[in-house]
Amino acid sequence: MSEALHAAFGIPGAVTIAPGVHGLPQVVLTHPSGAGAAVYLHGAHVTSWTNAAGDELLFVSRESYFAAGRPIRGGIPVIFPQFGGGALPQHGLARTAAWRLLRSGDGPAVTLGLTESADTLAAWPHPFALELDVRLGAATLTLTYTLRNTGAEPFACHAVLHTYFGVGDIRRAALHGLAGTAYLDTLHDRRREVETCPVLRFDQEIDRIYLNAPDTLQLDDEARGLRLTIAKHNMPDVTVWNPWIAKAARTPDFGDDEYLRMLCVETGIMHPQHALAPGDAWTGETVLTCAAAGG
Ligand code: BG6
Repeated sequence: MSEALHAAFGIPGAVTIAPGVHGLPQVVLTHPSGAGAAVYLHGAHVTSWTNAAGDELLFVSRESYFAAGRPIRGGIPVIFPQFGGGALPQHGLARTAAWRLLRSGDGPAVTLGLTESADTLAAWPHPFALELDVRLGAATLTLTYTLRNTGAEPFACHAVLHTYFGVGDIRRAALHGLAGTAYLDTLHDRRREVETCPVLRFDQEIDRIYLNAPDTLQLDDEARGLRLTIAKHNMPDVTVWNPWIAKAARTPDFGDDEYLRMLCVETGIMHPQHALAPGDAWTGETVLTCAAAGG
């Protein structure tokens, strides 16, 4: 399968399609700067983003499943139509679905698509069309997430890019930009609070949905001397999650010590749901930029 996809969508020096873990088709993007990224068709899941110096900027668990029907643990899961628990499987249907490769080109960039199937309709009775465009720059990764209601009835949904950043040591990571933002504390029945810290640091489990958060956040990975900027457009909310020790231990596809090496800073529509009339579309974009700290 990867071979046929490569023949159709490969671009010398920029886009390669090759088998990934367990043979699952993977699109590898390469930038002339030396930066790279990898996207699985399974879930349209970005599993790697490396800067020109070769630093891996995303976290993927060594315990992750790479198997049909199961989410990959780490990278950038695409969440739709439900974020969190509810009537559907946790975090919805898109992250475990087989997406299609729609387009490649204009440099290291690829667009994947997902539409309803017998399986999604059995779980959630709405036709839809999703696209995820992944574009690699010298120091940036741009993710454009488009959602269209292709059915005859309105629907309401969540839509999230559940990004797992890799950090050298979570105890030396700092997230800037959320002071003054209201949040729902998932660890306390979604109790509503307001963030008072100008800089978030991490020494215990955190699971919060920041509502209408500022569009630019900064994550400092002090252990590795890296600074990540997260710029979002038309994606109002941000979830900050680290499972810490106890939740890591009870999560089968997550190593017990791996909470030290990651932080999820997720962007999208998390609360409330977004309503889409028949024929309507929504597009949100997140641009990740990596620089040396102080650079
Ligand atoms: C986060 C949620 O978005 O995802 C957490 O806020 C959840 O509560 C985490 O534990 C991971 O979810 P999952 O389904 O991938 O284990």
